[in-house]
Amino acid sequence: MAKTMKAITISSPGAAPQVTNNLIIPEPGEGQILVRSIYTAINPGDSIMAETGAMVKSWPFSPGCDAGGIVVSAGSNAVSPLGKPFAEGERVFGCTRLGTPGHSPWGEYFLMDSRVTIPVPPKLTLAEASALGVGLLTASEGVFSCLGVPLPTSTPTPTYTSTVSGANEPDRAWALVLGGASSVGFAAVQLLLASGLHVVTTCSERSAPLLQERGVSCISYRLGQEDLISRVMIITHGKVRYVFDAVGLNHDLVGLLVDVVERHAETDGGAEAKYAPQVAFTTTNAFAPLPIASNLTAKAIQLGPIGRPEPEAKTLNEALAGYIPVLYRLLDSGKVVVGPYRLEEQGVEGILGAWNVQKSGKVAGKIVVKVTEK
Ligand SMILES: NC(=O)c1ccc[n+]([C@@H]2O[C@H](COP(=O)([O-])OP(=O)(O)OC[C@H]3O[C@@H](n4cnc5c(N)ncnc54)[C@H](OP(=O)(O)O)[C@@H]3O)[C@@H](O)[C@H]2O)c1
Repeated sequence: MAKTMKAITISSPGAAPQVTNNLIIPEPGEGQILVRSIYTAINPGDSIMAETGAMVKSWPFSPGCDAGGIVVSAGSNAVSPLGKPFAEGERVFGCTRLGTPGHSPWGEYFLMDSRVTIPVPPKLTLAEASALGVGLLTASEGVFSCLGVPLPTSTPTPTYTSTVSGANEPDRAWALVLGGASSVGFAAVQLLLASGLHVVTTCSERSAPLLQERGVSCISYRLGQEDLISRVMIITHGKVRYVFDAVGLNHDLVGLLVDVVERHAETDGGAEAKYAPQVAFTTTNAFAPLPIASNLTAKAIQLGPIGRPEPEAKTLNEALAGYIPVLYRLLDSGKVVVGPYRLEEQGVEGILGAWNVQKSGKVAGKIVVKVTEK
């Protein structure tokens, strides 16, 4: 096998990306696998890291973290979250360690940390898997860790109790996903549905059919805050107990919404009238201040440390390792499907053109590049 490879590199924050021909192919350490990059997808975070240097460990830096590839070799103890040692030729996908030399799928070979790497279920192609990894892992961290929704297999569906219809019968609680057509949002919608919740989402007209097909109620994000909140209250009868802001643009709106939910409960006359119903909120925006209210718990998602060996990444890595077998089953059973994606350009060089298409914002869905042949 060659000792060097082709990869995209950036010399300093904001510098133009280059194609480099002589990057050293890394060797897998303990708990790692070396993967041949077959497909990669572009993420909004790639531009943020390239422009600001956020989460970049050293320069030159290779952006890219959404991976779909084939295992070339495995280090010692490289066991998948499904409990089997990774083997040469196995198809894998997921989010690689960010900003760390040797870990980017925007090169021909890269490392993955086995405990947070997802084996590709037989149902999925590698191209589909590469369009899914970052969105799905981010959504699972948001839904299960930050919102505290029980994993679909283990515990009963969260319920809401009201006497408003006279019977005081438990009913399913509602989750609101802001930005259900984004990659993270579409995965979150499906995980919340799989957990037994009703889901309402905001999206554009062009994306509504994708979500409605899955039984999700859609509201246009172009409505003003008051109209949007009133639509949410009508659709959910005020039973919103989980809010997932997938696009991270709605912290103010959520602050207003929980106030309306609390006032609605006071007039509802149900079991919750004496206690303001608690709403759990999570967001992909880890930089903006979180809304504060007595009936709100709020936690931002931080997938950034994925795979890292530092102690502060331990809780995240352990949580993801626990979610991956559930995600695998949901994908294999077709309960979670891949959102829209488009194959754009080819080869390591092709990543540059595809990245420009993604940055233009003109194409809905994920942009995926075929990096190498098998
Ligand atoms: N904190 C973390 O660890 C973490 C991890 C991953 C991603 N992120 C962040 O999460 C955000 C989403 O990432 P992504 O990859 O899912 O993005 P994406 O797939 O590129 O999202 C694009 C979609 O967002 C929808 N959208 C745009 N503006 C909207 C609005 N005002 N309200 C509702 N929907 C809107 C549009 O859907 P329509 O088709 O309906 O117009 C568009 O197609 C990004 O900011 C990313 O940086 C954070």
